[in-house]
Amino acid sequence: MRALVVKEPGPPESLRLTETATPSPGPGELTIDVAYAGVGFVDTLFRSGAFDLPTPFTPGIEVTGHVREIGPGVTGFEPGQPVGALLNDFGRGMRAGGYAEVAVAHATMTTRLPGDADLARMAAVLINGVTAWLALHDLARLRVGDDVLVLGASGGLGGITGRLAAVHPAGRVIGSSRRPSDAPTWTHLVTDLDTVPDLTGGRGVDIVIDPVGGDLRTRAYDLLAPFGRLVVVGNASGQDHPVSADSAWLNTRQILGFSLGGVAHLIPDRVGTALSAIVDLVHRGVLREPAPAVVPLDQATEVHQALETRTAPPKTVLAIR
Ligand SMILES: NC(=O)c1ccc[n+]([C@@H]2O[C@H](COP(=O)([O-])OP(=O)(O)OC[C@H]3O[C@@H](n4cnc5c(N)ncnc54)[C@H](OP(=O)(O)O)[C@@H]3O)[C@@H](O)[C@H]2O)c1
Repeated sequence: MRALVVKEPGPPESLRLTETATPSPGPGELTIDVAYAGVGFVDTLFRSGAFDLPTPFTPGIEVTGHVREIGPGVTGFEPGQPVGALLNDFGRGMRAGGYAEVAVAHATMTTRLPGDADLARMAAVLINGVTAWLALHDLARLRVGDDVLVLGASGGLGGITGRLAAVHPAGRVIGSSRRPSDAPTWTHLVTDLDTVPDLTGGRGVDIVIDPVGGDLRTRAYDLLAPFGRLVVVGNASGQDHPVSADSAWLNTRQILGFSLGGVAHLIPDRVGTALSAIVDLVHRGVLREPAPAVVPLDQATEVHQALETRTAPPKTVLAIR
């Protein structure tokens, strides 16, 4: 089969189109004839070596396609059935492998898709949708009416987190972005966090979801109301600014972190619930996700370059076939 392989971590050109052996599923696994593979900022971190994966590896942690083969012990799937799968269960050992014609997925991280599902659109929402769902529901314990501040509002994870919070429904859904926009997701979209206290009548927000880090993280943390929750889900800025634990004590705030890839295998039921919920909400049009840019597999290098130079559209998927 054809796959994009990284032999040595490095620049986007390290992604090499290679002929490799077609994999077979092991116990609890299935293989998927991949139709589309989502591309996210985190893929650039694997490719560059910022996040360590044993080489050689194939990036790509979210795919849609059709079931090819079913491994021992797997029930509920049939060959040919459309499915979506997360390939980032790194806690279970080496995974990823989405930028390829055939991918191996664990059954607990695979969901059936409706026969008429838009496979490109679905491939674009799996990782960010499940992360947003678990961050808002399981970590931040979002209650109806909570005021939510989402950093990196124009990004893939930030965008779907805001749209999901709005569906819940949260109270104010405030997006923070360096790029002004009039996207209807947000009750308020701010380019300067100093305006947030006025928007909340001085009370502050109940929840901050932070995929960005840096100075923005510490400033957003200071906007939390008593009992407020900061959920750290990423570090797109590349800067890890510390948040004071004493300040959490004295202001009665909570600092939480969540990395799906490290714990997905420990919470298969919750991942499965989130995966089915996101797919269902998107398929029914309740969660209105923008159509992703679709590019051929052999243009993944250009997609990674665009992600690193911040010129990429909110989401891109690779068309594999
Ligand atoms: N926890 C998990 O399991 C999980 C799952 C998926 C992704 N992630 C992580 O989440 C982060 C975002 O991923 P993504 O795919 O959404 O990336 P993305 O589409 O590139 O979006 C990142 C956003 O961060 C903001 N940003 C980037 N650099 C910044 C800087 N220096 N200062 C201020 N803002 C900056 C930008 O938003 P504005 O232009 O709007 O300011 C950008 O759109 C990554 O660190 C990724 O690894 C974590």
